Amino acid sequence: MEKMDWKNLSFGYIKTDYNVRCYFRDGRWGEIETCSEETIPLHMAAVCLHYGQEAFEGMKAYRCPDGHVRVFRTEENAARLQSTSRGIVMPEVPTELFNEMIDRVIRLNERWIPPYESGATLYIRPLLIGTSAQVGVHPSREYLFMIFVTPVGPYFKGGFATNPYVITRDYDRSAPLGTGCYKVGGNYAASLKANQWAHEQGYSCEFYLDAKEKKYIDECGAANFFGIKDNTYVTPLSTSILPSVTNKSLMQLAEDLGMKVERRQIPLEELDTFEEAGACGTAAVISPIERIDDPETGKSYVFSKDGKPGPISTKLFNKLIAIQYGIEPDTHGWTRIVL
Ligand SMILES: Cc1ncc(COP(=O)(O)O)c(C=O)c1O
Repeated sequence: MEKMDWKNLSFGYIKTDYNVRCYFRDGRWGEIETCSEETIPLHMAAVCLHYGQEAFEGMKAYRCPDGHVRVFRTEENAARLQSTSRGIVMPEVPTELFNEMIDRVIRLNERWIPPYESGATLYIRPLLIGTSAQVGVHPSREYLFMIFVTPVGPYFKGGFATNPYVITRDYDRSAPLGTGCYKVGGNYAASLKANQWAHEQGYSCEFYLDAKEKKYIDECGAANFFGIKDNTYVTPLSTSILPSVTNKSLMQLAEDLGMKVERRQIPLEELDTFEEAGACGTAAVISPIERIDDPETGKSYVFSKDGKPGPISTKLFNKLIAIQYGIEPDTHGWTRIVL
């Protein structure tokens, strides 16, 4: 293996040694297979290609200062994938199978897990696809569940920093009774144009309001939103956002820190009242929001006047990564040692 420049990895794809696969046929899951091939033999009429019957997940494995490799709350990702399966009529991957495949693919690719000091991690990508050949719009009969891993760089190359967001009213990523609460590729396809538009305007990401009334906060690109005020952590309750494992964890940590936690609709105007705001997800844990601009009204909701992350966001960020890296006690039993 050539010497890896772990510090300069991007959030891209690098070939590793193995992936793991499991097929669903005749109504049941088969044996776990180890594979060194990166491609999938797929029928051109496979349901996933035409009708989007596919789902994925995203997690990380962390090489920790104590020498162990840990994963974080993978049961939550298994449960979310099961919820997605129910949402788009696919068979559910049992949690034990999900975890066994994660542990196996990490161990098989041990040499690709970046060192602790680099800030890089091993990204874990489970994928579930409907593989049967058919042209009618029906659920597939057969499925492939696979997991691959790839090393990814630290999200904040220049350190934990704030970013500007822009409200999009011309595009919705999901509908109130649609698939926004599931991790299906179609939601991401639906977000590409808004994301491109936001980047063209010089923003880090697009910011979504609820699709029906455009009155309430929904999501920040592919991350959940939270705002902080009066020692309270406030995050949207909406049927069209993905239930984030990071957000769920931050809500718990906020409570542990003696803060109040509110999960409820957040009217757009309330943005004016937050002392801090952030986008949260596996990739960055917390991406603090500098400001959110509304091009329709010309209003700018500013959370960070000096461009620096706020004290509570910083505290929550440090606390969560310390647990993920086995530095602080894992009082909630969120991590699992894989190696
Ligand atoms: C649309 C969307 N929202 C939120 C999140 C954050 O979820 P998590 O914290 O489980 O990574 C993600 C990333 O998975 C996402 O794609």
